[in-house]
Amino acid sequence: MSTPVLAAVAWPYANGPRHIGHVSGFGVPSDLFARYMRMSGHPVLMVSGSDEHGTPIAVQAEKEGVSPRELVDKYHGVITEDMRGLGVTYDLFTRTTTGNHYKVVQELFLSLYKNGYVIAKTEMGAISPSTGRTLPDRFIEGTCPICGYDGARGDQCDNCGNQLDPIELKNPKSRINGETPKFVETEHLFLDLPAFTNSIGAYLGSKSDWRPNVVNFTKNLVKDLRPRAITRDIDWGVPVPLDGWRDAPLKRFYVWFDAVIGYLSASVEWARRSGEPDAWQQFWTDPSSESYYFMGKDNIVFHALIWPALLQGQNGAGDKGGEPGSFGTLNLPTEVVSSEYLTMSGSKFSSSRGQVIYVQDFLREFGPDMLRYFISVAGPENQDTDFTWDEFVRRSNFELANEWGNLVNRSINLAVKNNGGVPKPTAIQPADQELLNTAKAAFDTVGGHLRRNRFKQGATEAMRVVGAANKYLSDQEPWKLKEDTDRRDTVLYTALQVVKDANTLLTPFLPHAAQKVHEALGGTGVWASQPEIREVTDLDRDEKYPIITGAYAAEQAKWESTPIEVGKPLVKPTPLFPKLEPSLGETGPEWAPIVK
Ligand code: MF3
Ligand code: ZN
Repeated sequence: MSTPVLAAVAWPYANGPRHIGHVSGFGVPSDLFARYMRMSGHPVLMVSGSDEHGTPIAVQAEKEGVSPRELVDKYHGVITEDMRGLGVTYDLFTRTTTGNHYKVVQELFLSLYKNGYVIAKTEMGAISPSTGRTLPDRFIEGTCPICGYDGARGDQCDNCGNQLDPIELKNPKSRINGETPKFVETEHLFLDLPAFTNSIGAYLGSKSDWRPNVVNFTKNLVKDLRPRAITRDIDWGVPVPLDGWRDAPLKRFYVWFDAVIGYLSASVEWARRSGEPDAWQQFWTDPSSESYYFMGKDNIVFHALIWPALLQGQNGAGDKGGEPGSFGTLNLPTEVVSSEYLTMSGSKFSSSRGQVIYVQDFLREFGPDMLRYFISVAGPENQDTDFTWDEFVRRSNFELANEWGNLVNRSINLAVKNNGGVPKPTAIQPADQELLNTAKAAFDTVGGHLRRNRFKQGATEAMRVVGAANKYLSDQEPWKLKEDTDRRDTVLYTALQVVKDANTLLTPFLPHAAQKVHEALGGTGVWASQPEIREVTDLDRDEKYPIITGAYAAEQAKWESTPIEVGKPLVKPTPLFPKLEPSLGETGPEWAPIVK
């Protein structure tokens, strides 16, 4: 059987709707990969959910004047809609406030603890002098003591990537009210990262084929491993299952500690919901299975360093040894796949500065596939990349509407008009054979790129087939072959076969359009399946929440050239993609106007 593949997708904070910067980092790339892997016959498990604890939630709840619980209920619903609308085929998109998640987090923690990888330390924690309340690390800003960057946060410097303690910042200031924090003693639990120096060094050392941005980032991190706090002084999070901690109202696991364990807890929840409670093991404890983690670059440290360390600690495989915990020996990430940032006029998308394009607005006006395609060919795969409306209009009009849309239209319409269905070829000539071969060969080329998460190259190679087919039609001019109907039939047959192949190659990128092309080619049933939202009951508590899931195994799309059937009736297609007004490139849409 084919290798099982886990697609682990970063968990969005349930503190607002998603913008296109977010989904260019984790949503679209993960779905391109997962769809390709399923089409290639791999069992795939794709999991994620809303990240609902910690200061990002607590602070936004305060801003909106609601409880953290009310906030996450609202935005979990919004994000679920965003991701479904984009067509991201999660097997389970859940949330971190479930009973199952709490249990899995606490269980994994206890194994780590038993194996000796957790240490307690008293340290200096920041409080606000005016309110006396704990000031969370990331709400302290100052100058990085290592690189001098003046926007460093109390937990991390985004400039040099080093982890920090708030007390190390020069000129620390509260981001809430600008005052200088006061530091007082507080006890916390720490992950003993230095006890993974050799084990993580060996693990990362074996991963030289990862994207350069991830390899370079982690190389620097392992040079200076320090214990890292996994608890916080906060009341919103997963409680610590130890005497003296369990009932402490202000001690909770750090949001990142519980969130990364979500990959495992969501897999367990998926298995429990499927009626086969052990089904998650195929993706986690079978040593031949593979796992790919998708995220934006600010998440690298947690996925390439902290999560592998937690897994090694649970497995008893850090430098202090130990025994595998209750989950058995869990697989470490096969690859951490990180994108860079999608920017707008050179800076990060920012809801607070109003420089933002929300997914829901985008989908309402353009549907999912134009965004998916844009992110695939022009997204921040290897470097920060600016989103411009101009480029969006250009790519959509030239590549989707003119190139692909027109190829589908002209070839199917000609065959409908002349034959009503797929014509019968007579003598295949070298030009026909060459095009058929080009399309067939692309399955290996495009597939090779997608399996290595090289989406730009994958999309470009798939579009090369479309370009070759358009050139073929212009050369052969079947519309002029009124007398020679044998030759015309052969040309149209060839074009239709290549349309079918190109449609398969483009299915991971354009799954909604692919369904339409499938139907225009006379196909019935589900070609590319789509996710759906379902309201479910918590497996361990009396609560209800929406999840994303789907019946993806039922789709017909397979990563191979499938022959079209002579005589099969065709259906006149409606245009696949609208032609956008060039002025859109200059002004932007009303709901996200370009500010000059
Ligand atoms: N919520 C985090 C962010 O938006 C990502 C968490 S990924 C996780 O940056 F899996 F670790 F939770
Ligand atoms: Zn720095």
